[in-house]
Amino acid sequence: MKHKLGFVNSNLKKIRDWNLYRTLQYGRTEGPYIIFKRKKLINLCSNDYLGLVTNQILNKQLESSSRLVAGNDPSFKILEEKLARHKSQESSLIFPTGYMANLGTISTLAQKGDVILSDELNHVSIIEACRLSGAKITVYKHDDMIDLEKKIRQKANRKFIVTEGVFSMDGDFANLKEISYIAAKNDAILTLDDAHGDFVVGSDGRGTGQHFGVEKNIDLYVSSLSKGLGAFGGYVASKNKVIEFLINKSKSFIYTSALPSILVDLALKRFISNREKQRKKLWKNIRLMHSGLRSLGYEINSSSQIIPIIIGNEKAALDFGRYLFENGIFVQPIRYPTVKMNTARVRISITAWLSKNHIEKSLDVLEHASRKFRIF
Ligand SMILES: Cc1ncc(COP(=O)(O)O)c(C=O)c1O
Repeated sequence: MKHKLGFVNSNLKKIRDWNLYRTLQYGRTEGPYIIFKRKKLINLCSNDYLGLVTNQILNKQLESSSRLVAGNDPSFKILEEKLARHKSQESSLIFPTGYMANLGTISTLAQKGDVILSDELNHVSIIEACRLSGAKITVYKHDDMIDLEKKIRQKANRKFIVTEGVFSMDGDFANLKEISYIAAKNDAILTLDDAHGDFVVGSDGRGTGQHFGVEKNIDLYVSSLSKGLGAFGGYVASKNKVIEFLINKSKSFIYTSALPSILVDLALKRFISNREKQRKKLWKNIRLMHSGLRSLGYEINSSSQIIPIIIGNEKAALDFGRYLFENGIFVQPIRYPTVKMNTARVRISITAWLSKNHIEKSLDVLEHASRKFRIF
């Protein structure tokens, strides 16, 4: 383990010395029982107070317990091993959502005395996680490497850099090559939230880190299973010791009910089937929409499936969205506080569901809308 993450080892040692060390056991719940390997035990750990969660349709019980108590179905282990390999990391840990994965990772690892350098457009779950940590937060201008280089030159116990891979409201990629170079030069812990790049970008959908060839330089991967994978949940991938530390310390992991194992099974199912065909189709659609919008005169700075059309004024964005709605196109106007005041936008997101016809019809409506609302 790199020196910059060495504090995790010393903290784990303390936890062990004080007999506070926690490990995960994999048990499947069955009515009043819980089964660990072949051992069937009476379950006195469940929160399913009314005995309701057996689901006949799914033929599988929904656990209602923390993963450290009785909610750790063996399918978690299989999925976590897959996710670790998917990110070229030693281990991974599933959280109920990506939001909770950010909260529980950044706030556990960063501490008072540390500094977190955070991109100004980072998602609210990152911002909240940084606040919870007690570390000093230094916001750098969006993907501005000069600003990052300047601001990272400050005294701190430990330094963290946190960025999204594909920015959720702008659809551009973080300059991960440069960011990972700056992180290495400054011995900073690089955290990548790849919620929108994961399963979409890079070979086999391995995400933005792989796409830029810097997978190994990412210290902490945080992502969602609810977007590109088409399932539900969140996860973190990192070194074994980091995951061990999170199991022991991360509040949004320990003190909440586990992701229901039917959702773990769903994620596993999605993982196994080859998604290359859908990814190809998605990227074909993205190119079609980018070039179509540009040829209509729209200014497009997106490099991904997320394509914002910046309107500026909040009311104008609502009117623009309503016009599209009335003409058969559903997009969501995005306003403050999700984005800055006067940068309201409609946020298009492209999927593999769309046919060439759908895109052409959308472009047709967008052409009329651009004239009606005098966008350029
Ligand atoms: C960048 C980013 N990170 C994290 C999340 C949270 O993921 P989840 O929906 O799994 O909680 C989102 C969700 O929109 C996101 O856009």
